[in-house]
Parts: sequence; structure tokens; C-alpha cells
Amino acid sequence: MNKKDMKKVVLAYSGGLDTSVIVHWLKKNYGVEVLCFSGDMGQEENLSALENRAYAAGASKLIVEDLRSDFAKNYIMPSMQLHALYEGQYDLATALTRPLIAERLVDFAKKEKADTIVHGCTGKGNDQVRFETTIHALDASLNIFAPVREWELNTREKEVEYAKENKIPINVDKKKIYSIDRSLWGIAVECGVLEDPWNEPTDDTYITVKKLEDAPGSPEYIEITFENGVPIKLNDKKYELVDLIKELNKIAGLHGVGRVDMIENRLIGVKSREVYEMPAATVLIKAHKDLESLVFDREMMHYKEVLSIKFAEVVYYGLWFTSLRESIVAFNNASQKYVTGTVRMKLYKGNATIVGRKSEYSLYKNELVTYADGDIFDQTLSKGFLDLWSLPYKVAGQVRKNK
Ligand code: ARG
Repeated sequence: MNKKDMKKVVLAYSGGLDTSVIVHWLKKNYGVEVLCFSGDMGQEENLSALENRAYAAGASKLIVEDLRSDFAKNYIMPSMQLHALYEGQYDLATALTRPLIAERLVDFAKKEKADTIVHGCTGKGNDQVRFETTIHALDASLNIFAPVREWELNTREKEVEYAKENKIPINVDKKKIYSIDRSLWGIAVECGVLEDPWNEPTDDTYITVKKLEDAPGSPEYIEITFENGVPIKLNDKKYELVDLIKELNKIAGLHGVGRVDMIENRLIGVKSREVYEMPAATVLIKAHKDLESLVFDREMMHYKEVLSIKFAEVVYYGLWFTSLRESIVAFNNASQKYVTGTVRMKLYKGNATIVGRKSEYSLYKNELVTYADGDIFDQTLSKGFLDLWSLPYKVAGQVRKNK
């Protein structure tokens, strides 16, 4: 990065080792003014403690914004309603936060007339892609700088040393060998023993989800009520969206639900081993999908499955502020009109099993499907249907047999 291009920067500040060192390092090496931005995404951390650290490291300002409600409503909801799971498993808990944080960084930079946005992502990860693609989609005139990709502090030990030398108060816990990212939608754990894909995750990798051995020995039933695709009640009690997700993280986590251990294809080409905790996401996606099976016709259901895979890729690849993402969400929003009803589930030892569902828009008609008394289905009509349905295959079979 050229020194003369940078005078005032906005830093995506997490309060961790990397970004705390970055504040000091930027001032020392570039003589710039550093303004820090943190978003509360539901990481359940004491964010006021960030303040001391940011100012001690040399920041001239720190803004902490509560983004949980916006995150739940505008990012988690469409993703949940589209049942988005990257490579069939990961609920995108980290990936969904990045465009929202990046959008606020851009607003903050404009307001403060900063010329550059700085982030603490490594050159090996997905998050750099999500931040930078969003920032430049929203404002191409801003510079972006990622010190971790090029600085001399290329090991954790060197960073700790730098922090000590420069009296930056950091929370270095030798036992904290994992890289953990947490939001309302879930937790991602990487590094340490997990870097060997053959190693079973150790007990200290569990945060919100109970180990199966420790989960209660008897099941718990829950009922989730949706209105136009949005969960509004849990066990008949109304909740704000953020609180409902928090509560489900607790209840499902207690029963060992929502743990994923996977090998994932990162966007930049390497594979990584990831352990995720996503109790609320697991339960909500499953319940919502089940309710749709009751109120959607077949073609809607099948078409949404295709969109689900594409949407997960779009989010994972950092393409939130694109017309493809906007269009998929517009389709999804239109589809949620009749997704109203209640789903009953049984949580037990890592399983979240659907045991019942009901809706005023249910397309399930017992009198059509029953083999008992009260059947109104006219089976004689099926002959005509089958004559026409099988016609193309009948013709093809006849033509090909003669060749
Ligand atoms: N692999 C996930 C993603 O790219 C999670 C990354 C989380 N970061 C972390 N520091 N653990 O979205």
C-alpha cells in the first residue's frame, strides 16, 4: 500500500490480537489516523471491553453498532427460508455477517471522510473476498488495505511480541489455539488439533452444543410457529426474532443438536476442516422446510431446492450486493406468502426430529389420500392421465425397438 494514498482509515475491528496490533502498526508505519468499527452480530462478547483495547492501541475513535436485528431480519431470514447450507452442511453463519459489516464500514468511512478501509483477514480465507467484494461494489473509490497479507508479523508469536513491546492490552490465552468466529446464527471453529482431519474434535472445541454423552437422557418437545416464513412463536410464546434464535440456540444446543464437522472447499482453492455449531439454524431450517412441504405445491418445492444451492454459493462467495442475490431473495420473499403454521419437533441426543405440522394453508387433504372411508379421489381418472403421461415414452420405445 502506498503511504501517500492513506491518511485516514477505517478498520474493521474485532478486538482480537490481529486487529489490535493492526491499529498500532498502521499508525507507526503509515502515520495515519485509525478509526475503528465493530458490529454486534450476536457474538456474545463484552463489547464495551473493546473500547479500552482500541484506544490503548492508538485508535482515535471506536464505534460499536448493534446489528443483530438487521442481521436476523435481512440476512438470516432469507438464508433460513432458502434452507441455505454451503456444501450441504454449513449454515453460512460467518459468511452472512461480512456483507453487513462491510456495508456499515463503507457508511462509516464516508461519514468520516476516510480514504481507506482496512481489514484483518488473511490471504488464505474467504472473508477477505466477502469484505472486499462488498466494499468495492458499494464504493469503488475507497482504497482497501489488508496488512496481514503482507506484514512482517507473520506468526502469532511475533504479533504477541509486538503487542507486549508496544503495551497493547491483549487477551492472550495460551490455551486459545482455535480460531473462533461467532454470530447469532452459529459458531465456526478452526485450527489447533482440528487441522488434522483425522483428529476427533476435543472437548474444548464445544461451546454452545453439548456433547452427545452429556445431553439429557430424555427428549424435549418444542413447537415453532411461523408467519409468512418468519418464526414468531416458540412453544406458543411470542418472541422477537433475535431472542427466538438465541433461545433456540440454547434449547437445541442443550440436546446436542447442530454440530457439523466437515471438509470445506474455500473460495480461494484450499480445503479446510471446519467444526460448526448451529443449533438454532439446524432446527429452524428443518422446521421451515417441513412447513413448506405442507403448503407448497410440488413444483415450488423442487424449484426452491435449486435456488437453495445457488444462494448458498452466492453468500459463500461474497456476492451479496449483486443482482443475482437480490433476485433470488425477491423470488424467495414472494414464495413465503402462505408459509404460516406450526411445526412440532422432538430434540434428543443430537437429533431434531419433526413429529407434527399444521397450517391453515395446508394442501394436505386426507379425503384425497386416504384408503379408508370418506375417499373422494376418483381413481378412474388415472387411466386417462396415464395414457397421456406415458405417451412420449411409449412412442420412443416403439421407434427405438424397430431400429
Ligand atoms: N469457513 C467459514 C467461512 O468461510 C468460517 C470461517 C470462520 N472464521 C474463523 N475465524 N473461524 O465462512
